[in-house]
Amino acid sequence: MLCETLGESRGETAARSISAWERLVRRPTPGNESRQSSIALGGGSINIAWQAVDRHAETSHRTHIALRWLGRSGMARLISYSGLRDLTNQFANVLVGLDIGKGDRVAVLTGRIPELYVAALGTMKNRSVFCPLFSNFGPEPIRTRLELGDARVLVTTDRLYLRKIAPLRALLPRLEYVLIVGEDGPAAEIPGTLDLAHLMAAASDRFTIPPTDPEDMAVLHFTSGTTGRPKGAIHVHGAVAAHHASARHALDLTPGDVFWCTADPGWVTGTSYGIIGPLTIGATLVVDQEEFDAERWLHILEEEQVTVWYTAPTAIRMLMRMDPARFRSLDTTALRYIASVGEPLEPAAVHWGEAAFGQPIHDTWWQTETGAIMIANGPGAVVKPGSFGRPLPGVEAAIVHRCRDGGVALETTPDTPGELALRAGWPSMFRGYLAEPGRYNACFRDGWYLTGDLARRDADGDYWFIGRADDVIKSAGHLISPGEVEAVLREHPAVADAAVVGLPDPLLLQMVKAFIVLKEDRSESESVRRDILGHARRRLGAAVAPREITFKADLPKTRSGKLMRRLLKARELGIPEGDRSSLIDDGA
Ligand code: WT7
Repeated sequence: MLCETLGESRGETAARSISAWERLVRRPTPGNESRQSSIALGGGSINIAWQAVDRHAETSHRTHIALRWLGRSGMARLISYSGLRDLTNQFANVLVGLDIGKGDRVAVLTGRIPELYVAALGTMKNRSVFCPLFSNFGPEPIRTRLELGDARVLVTTDRLYLRKIAPLRALLPRLEYVLIVGEDGPAAEIPGTLDLAHLMAAASDRFTIPPTDPEDMAVLHFTSGTTGRPKGAIHVHGAVAAHHASARHALDLTPGDVFWCTADPGWVTGTSYGIIGPLTIGATLVVDQEEFDAERWLHILEEEQVTVWYTAPTAIRMLMRMDPARFRSLDTTALRYIASVGEPLEPAAVHWGEAAFGQPIHDTWWQTETGAIMIANGPGAVVKPGSFGRPLPGVEAAIVHRCRDGGVALETTPDTPGELALRAGWPSMFRGYLAEPGRYNACFRDGWYLTGDLARRDADGDYWFIGRADDVIKSAGHLISPGEVEAVLREHPAVADAAVVGLPDPLLLQMVKAFIVLKEDRSESESVRRDILGHARRRLGAAVAPREITFKADLPKTRSGKLMRRLLKARELGIPEGDRSSLIDDGA
């Protein structure tokens, strides 16, 4: 059923291929076709949404498809560059009508639907700040991020609102407007919310982007550290230079490409490369609303004739479990470039790519903080399986050691482990952690940004990943803060104390595991274990909650009371506990 719909929609010409949704919300304007440029950018101005959308809508590229959306139910919608310009203009006007302006945060919690893309780019046109939230988060991570991000507007769906936001609304006094999208047709009428489709229909599709300073905040991405408090990484409009250059030089994108980035825009990959970078190139984005499903993904690669595919090792490991014969019957002749990000790409995955698709998978390395790909096996690179390649043009990387005097020492001996560092100042570098200058400044020393990753560089200049220098957990490509999970576990009435670590997992890379000390009047039982796991899943969402619990009489701590998670992990895995003195001041 999916393929049929897709086949039909591909047959449509770009000019006719405006989606039903687009028609619904598009205000008919006489003389639409002969519209003049409405861009008033000048004087050193740079706006991400203009670079991604309007710039193309001003040229013959206007009829090219910007977004090819594949809905859960088998529906497909196509939006051209000019269609996207009009829709994002309307969204920007909706914000203006609500008196939402420069610097105001617009949070989006919708899952991958066309409105997400319209809201992201329309928000940036208005110089407001796009703050994406992962729709699989439970209520607790959503509340913290809305609160820390000081969101004035939230765009969400009726279903997500009722399930996750309504119970929290009273705790979010600064959230002024909730704009609702109907998940299955027109939005349900919900008191205290506004219907986005109605607002869009009433809004003009003309908008003049105000002069935007390259240093104006464009995107706020929450990321996890060790502690319970997520960090709001600030990204600016000038970052688009790096999104564009890396889309070209690390992902090999050209305007004719059909590009599928499988990441959700709730995470930085899904924004920098699921929206911005490829659109600045003029490529077509494929967006699938559905969660991972091996057969569905192969269908999409084949039916959509994806040319460049950007995905993650967890998904690749799941595909690697399929029968190799399945790949022999797959027609992926269009596919000419595959890249991966987010976790180590094991050599076996690179070899599997060669067997399944006739080409290696190109690893790329970066972080929420770097805003764009920094180090990669780019097009034309001889891929060394297991290495994530070399710095992109304009990026200076090094292996360093932190010195006691507060500086860094550069490691010059090949293959020697140290911390991966980047010379500060690339265009997409984060400009701060929201309201936390101390945490931001702690990332820099001697003009280097310290990544928190341990790596080595070989004699050829290729980088190899070793692990994280801190306690943050990577599970299914998502960065998880042990502190955030521990705080929710401690809310449970039976829990006295909790420690959370990532244990090796063959599929997820790491599995979230909790060690729990029960209150004195409670005793271990299967029902208490299930109750604590259920509480964590409800509050945090399944992607973040622990999968396993072990009860402990006490937890290892330093004399000053800091948890020694790595000691716990080493004991659990039966590996040497290492230099315990270095564990003492770890985990800040
Ligand atoms: C951390 C950043 C920006 C991409 C999505 C993740 C790990 C990232 C690789 C890679 C090994 C990788 C690092 C990094 N990571 N890419 N190619 N090989 N590890 O962004 O959530 O901010 O996570 O992901 O540990 O520090 P993020």
